[in-house]
Amino acid sequence: MTTRRSPTSDRGGEALDLLFNVVLFRGMPRTMLLELASKLRPIRYRAHTDIFHEGDEGATLYIILKGAVKIFIPSLDGREVVLAVHRKYDLLGEMSLLDDHPRSASATTIEDTEAVSLSRHDFLSVLDRHPEAQRAIIDVLVARLRATNQSIQDAYLLDVPGRLARRLLAIAEEHGEKTDEGVDIGLRVSQQELANMIGASRVAVNKQLQQWRKQDIVDVNRQRVTILNTTALEREYALSQ
Ligand code: CMP
Repeated sequence: MTTRRSPTSDRGGEALDLLFNVVLFRGMPRTMLLELASKLRPIRYRAHTDIFHEGDEGATLYIILKGAVKIFIPSLDGREVVLAVHRKYDLLGEMSLLDDHPRSASATTIEDTEAVSLSRHDFLSVLDRHPEAQRAIIDVLVARLRATNQSIQDAYLLDVPGRLARRLLAIAEEHGEKTDEGVDIGLRVSQQELANMIGASRVAVNKQLQQWRKQDIVDVNRQRVTILNTTALEREYALSQ
C-alpha cells in the first residue's frame, strides 16, 4: 500500500495533487513538480480501447488516473497472457522509454480510463535531474519483477483452483471493497480474462467458480465477483501448495 500525500488547495493544486501521488515524483521539489505538471497531457479512453501494441515504438509514458488497463502478450492464435492490470497512479510504458526497445507488451483498457501522458524527453529529463525518481523507477520495476516471479511460481506449482483462489485474493487485497455480502474484488473482469491471468481455460475457470458458488465461497454476477468466504478461499490456496 502506498501512502498518499494530503491534497494541496492553491492554484495549480489539482495538478500537484496528482503528481504527489505518483511514486515517480515523490520527494520532488515543488518548483519542479509545477514545471512538470504543465507538460502532462490528459487522455481519456473508453473501456476496451487499445492504448498500444506489443512491438510498437514507445515514445510516451502514461500515468493512470482512473480506470484499469490490462497488460498482455497476444499469441498468434488469438489467445493472450495477461501480465498485470494497472490502475490509479500506476505507470505504464516506462520500459521502452528506458531501454529504447519496442513495447514489451500490449495495453488495453478494461474500464473507462483517464490518464496523463509524458513524452520520452520529459520523462528522461525527470530521471536525469532528480535522483529520487531513479530510485522510484527501480522500486516500480522490482515490484513488477516480484509479482511476475510469483505468477511463474504459481503457474508451475499450483493447480487451477489454487491459482484462481490466489489471484482472486490478490485482486481483492489490492482493489477490493467490503459489501454487505462479502468483498467485491473491485475489478470488472470476464472469466476469459481471469483465465488469461492464471494460464487456464475459460471453461476450467467457469467450472471452478460455479463450484465455489454452490459452496457459498464466491458469488459471480456478470463481471462482478464477490468473495463470500475469504477463509475458505485461503484454504483452497493452501491446499493447492
Ligand atoms: P513498455 O515495454 O514500454 O510497454 C508495455 C508496458 O507494460 C511496459 O512498458 C510496462 O509499463 C508494462 N509491463 C510490461 N511487463 C509487465 C509486467 N510483467 N508487469 C507489469 N507491467 C508490465
